[in-house]
Amino acid sequence: MRAITVSDRDAGVGGLTLTDMPYPHAAENDVIVRVHAAGFTPGELDWPATWTDRAGHDRTPTIPGHELSGVVVELGYGTTGLTVGQRVFGLTDWARNGSLAEYTAVEARNLAPLAADIDHAVAAALPISGLTAWQALFDHAHLAPGQTVLIHGAAGGVGSIAVQLAREVGAHVIGTGRADDRDVALALGAQTFVDLAADDLHQVGEVDVVLDVIGGDILQRSTDLVRPGGTVVTIAAPPTVAPKDGRAVFFVVEPDRARLIDLAHRLRSGRLKPIVGGVRPLHETASAFARHQRAPGKTIIQVADEQ
Ligand SMILES: NC(=O)c1ccc[n+]([C@@H]2O[C@H](COP(=O)([O-])OP(=O)(O)OC[C@H]3O[C@@H](n4cnc5c(N)ncnc54)[C@H](OP(=O)(O)O)[C@@H]3O)[C@@H](O)[C@H]2O)c1
Repeated sequence: MRAITVSDRDAGVGGLTLTDMPYPHAAENDVIVRVHAAGFTPGELDWPATWTDRAGHDRTPTIPGHELSGVVVELGYGTTGLTVGQRVFGLTDWARNGSLAEYTAVEARNLAPLAADIDHAVAAALPISGLTAWQALFDHAHLAPGQTVLIHGAAGGVGSIAVQLAREVGAHVIGTGRADDRDVALALGAQTFVDLAADDLHQVGEVDVVLDVIGGDILQRSTDLVRPGGTVVTIAAPPTVAPKDGRAVFFVVEPDRARLIDLAHRLRSGRLKPIVGGVRPLHETASAFARHQRAPGKTIIQVADEQ
């Protein structure tokens, strides 16, 4: 089967190569999915799990990409809950071969059924961004109606979903990003936008929750804005500072079939709109990772056409 692989940790996105790889093995409780559309996360080539299995052993050449939408073509021994021919979408294991391939093996519990009227390219944009945004805002920061949340990277993959979810729950939303991101963030529901290069972050006043996707200096400066009892939740890297009288949380997104089903319902009812910034063929994966042209939302890789 055709797949994108990486073997050299030092080669960066230039090391992403279209290769022939063996058809995957369906382990117990796995399914094999014929991948129609795949998502990737900028920076995933820096994650340890891209290079090693859960025991820390080298697993190169590895196939990156950890979100997908496609069709089940095979069930592993003992797998229940999904059937051959079913449309599915979801999040694949970080430490196994991923979704930038014609076929991939995934634990069935990490996938959710996908309705026939949702495009694979749209569904593939939802698992990581949708689950991360939900878990950050509600599982980790316990965002409540009436609270104020500062969402960094508000036009990006995670931020664009977080803005919509936070507004729907009745929070006051301040989005940030680059100057170009203003219109997108405001259209998604942010009430205020801060251009991180030009505006003073302190102009936003105190907030109950910060959702950080950038880290570094921006995370440090945002921490000062958190009111007593508030939370900074970051997905960039473990924080080195915490609010004076609050919590700082770093986490890695977890698969959650029930939440995926909920996110898909929101999508079908028009309450949630993932932004697909572009759709590129599998052989253009390296240039999509390199992201020469800025686009809001997620870039999706089209792997197979719908039959
Ligand atoms: N821990 C987890 O479970 C988890 C889950 C998902 C993602 N992540 C990580 O979270 C980060 C964000 O993911 P994503 O999918 O949302 O990425 P993304 O689509 O690239 O969104 C990030 C947004 O923030 C903007 N941004 C970054 N640095 C900025 C700066 N200094 N000033 C202004 N705007 C800035 C980006 O603009 P530009 O494109 O112009 O830089 C982009 O619009 C990535 O590092 C990813 O690896 C972690």
